[in-house]
Amino acid sequence: MAYETILVDKRDHVLLITLNRSSALNALNAQMMGEISAALAEADGDPRIGASVVTGSERAFAAGADIKEMAELSFPQSFVEDYAASYEAIAQTRKPIIAAVAGYALGGGCELAMMCDIIIAADTAKFGQPEITLGIIPGIGGTQRLVHAVGKAKAMDLVLTGRMMEAEEAESAGLVARVVPVDDLLDTALDAAEKIGEMSNAATMMAKEAVNRAFEVPLAEGLRFERRAFQSLFATEDQKEGMEAFIEKRSAQFKQR
Ligand code: CAA
Repeated sequence: MAYETILVDKRDHVLLITLNRSSALNALNAQMMGEISAALAEADGDPRIGASVVTGSERAFAAGADIKEMAELSFPQSFVEDYAASYEAIAQTRKPIIAAVAGYALGGGCELAMMCDIIIAADTAKFGQPEITLGIIPGIGGTQRLVHAVGKAKAMDLVLTGRMMEAEEAESAGLVARVVPVDDLLDTALDAAEKIGEMSNAATMMAKEAVNRAFEVPLAEGLRFERRAFQSLFATEDQKEGMEAFIEKRSAQFKQR
């Protein structure tokens, strides 16, 4: 599929998606969100791909949903079309996604990063939910996923004041998995994605599903889900290969990708 707002590069086991509206600081319009969802769906359907990386430019991962596109939206239109609901497709992607964030990740940009499974940030990254300054609130998970990531106190602070949080603060708050110098950002994210992509797809996809369950169900339910998923992996050739390789002191060659 030809894309206009993103660049897509298929590597060994990794799909790299680069947001490409730099003149608008990668503001997320409907076309771009549709294209990101389509590219991630392509990755889900491609057995050679095990993980994706979503990145932006050095100046901005994404400075939010496109304000110019939203400005004239009415409530009936927004409600009837269920504006922003389609963005959830990204969170439903089954293979792991790494957000490689440099510069601004604001509003919908921060929410897009939070829909990914791991956020790796450059030391230049700035996260925030400034929607309140526009007379609205976050609409793609900023009041929900942010609370899970950083807790109520900091989420409330960010959502109500609209202030930005530097990479270091985002890491210590738990939003970000790693902070690296900006020049190392893409290589670090691609290395991590490549490592994930070389594993058994069944195992990485089950791991993603199981971790995400922790946000949705009570502990006993989550533990039962985890146990069943764990048990089911003993039906895969990759489990046999992984354990045999350990015993034979060689690296595993997983096949289910
Ligand atoms: N939507 C549309 N255009 C945007 C944009 C956005 N979210 N963010 C930046 N741009 C555009 C600017 O309009 C400008 O375009 P022009 O050159 O055509 O004027 C261009 O990108 C560069 O931006 P600035 O000149 O403003 O750059 P700056 O360095 O002075 O400021 C910034 C950078 C602080 C990020 C500032 O652009 C900014 O505050 N952007 C908006 C951030 C924001 O409010 N995001 C939340 C959006 S609402 C949302 O996301 C809702 C939701 O949850 C669904």
